[in-house]
Order: sequence, then C-alpha cells, then structure tokens
Amino acid sequence: MTTDHAPDHPPVAAPLGDVTTERLTLRRFRAADAEALAPVFAEPAVWRYPYGRGLTAEETATFVEKRVAGWDAQGFDLWVAEERATGRVIGFVGLSVPRFLPEVLPAVEVGWRLHPDVWGRGYATEGATAALDEAFTTLGLDEVVSIIEPVNTASVRVAERLGMEVVRPVTVPSTPERGELTALLFRRRAADRPTRRPAPGARPPA
Ligand SMILES: CC(C)(COP(=O)(O)OP(=O)(O)OC[C@H]1O[C@@H](n2cnc3c(N)ncnc32)[C@H](O)[C@@H]1OP(=O)(O)O)[C@@H](O)C(=O)NCCC(=O)NCCS
Repeated sequence: MTTDHAPDHPPVAAPLGDVTTERLTLRRFRAADAEALAPVFAEPAVWRYPYGRGLTAEETATFVEKRVAGWDAQGFDLWVAEERATGRVIGFVGLSVPRFLPEVLPAVEVGWRLHPDVWGRGYATEGATAALDEAFTTLGLDEVVSIIEPVNTASVRVAERLGMEVVRPVTVPSTPERGELTALLFRRRAADRPTRRPAPGARPPA
C-alpha cells in the first residue's frame, strides 16, 4: 500500500476485510468474478445511470480488473455482493474512490449496483450500512461521500436512509462513454454517527 503520487483518497488506518450481514456476503473482488457479474451488469437498469445501457462483457471484465487492482493498491475497494440464501452474485456494494469527480478528491464514496431481480428488499441499504460502519471504524475515515444523479430516485432514497445529507449540486465531467452529468454530492460524517461506545463511567454490559 505505498503511494508515490498525490493521494486521491485519505489515508486508511487498516485494510478493509470481508463482511457478512444478515442477508449478504460482502467480499473482495477476484478476477473470476467477471463471469458472474457480466449478466448482472448487462441489465440496462443496472447502469441506466450514468450510461443509459448495460455493460458489455468486456466492459465488465475491465471494471473487475480495476477493482482487483484497487484492493491491491489501496487496501479497500468495492465488495462483490452475494445473497447468502442462494449464494448468487447480485452486484456490488461498498467503498471506492470517486475519480470521475476530481473536485471532491481526496475522497471515498459509498456506492451500490444490484440486479433488478433483488431491488426493493433493502439490500442496498443493508450493504451500504456495513460499508459506512467499516469506513468509520476499520478504515478510520472522517467522512464518506456519495455522488448521485437526482433522477436516480431509488439511489437517492438509499442515501437518505443511510442518513447522508446533500452538500451541494455538482457537475460530473464528461467521459468518452457519456456526457457531462448533473448530480448531488451527499456526505455522511463520522462525527454525526451514533456512537456505540459506552459513555465514560458507564458499567460494562453484563
Ligand atoms: C439503488 C438500488 C441498489 C436500490 O437498491 P434496493 O436494495 O432495491 O434498495 P431499497 O430496497 O432500499 O429501495 C430503495 C428505493 O428503491 C426503489 N425501488 C425499489 N424497487 C424498485 C423497483 N423494482 N423499481 C423501481 N424502483 C424501485 C424505491 O423507490 C425504494 O424507495 P422507497 O423506500 O421510497 O420505496 C437499485 O435501484 C440499483 O441497483 N440501481 C441501479 C444502480 C445505481 O443506479 N446505483 C447507484 C449509482 S449512484
């Protein structure tokens, strides 16, 4: 985890691990995940924002390569999300560096993309809650952002449920794959988080 360039994310206290929630297994990306993720990412609804279409298998493979490299270089990146009840890969949830919006760097973003089959069950909120917990404990970050197009109402709802607040509208620069975007910058700060530590002088739990 050495950095010989200007860091685009805040330093992390310790590397992120895998996490199990009530209904999800959240784990580090492996190169082999491209196969299971290709049909998920091919769904147009999954990448409607920002691309208006699903990803090709090649684009999914490139995405997975970046995640594997991110884990190696940063000690954290997005998790693959698996549904515990079925073992099925349903998409991703977790933490990444929002390099597509240089004005907010250094920063860490919480994000989610799940197969439409499993929308409406609260999985995104469940996984992203675990990501925020890890960001503020294991990684020791002071804040986490999320950059969401306001028309993406499902994701705006998830951010609201996570207790994130809107900081300001932002303009996301265009790329070869898409035009410029108008989005909202959401933020959650560690300081705003309810503490689970006992108050000083409190008795330890029996
Ligand atoms: C965002 C997303 C993960 C929602 O996940 P989820 O696990 O279904 O989230 P929840 O069950 O907590 O539902 C959140 C909202 O999704 C919306 N939603 C749920 N099921 C839906 C469906 N079948 N169709 C449309 N919207 C739906 C609802 O508006 C819900 O909000 P509500 O509580 O006001 O009803 C999912 O919509 C998704 O993967 N979208 C594509 C990827 C994406 O845009 N990612 C974010 C980029 S910034």
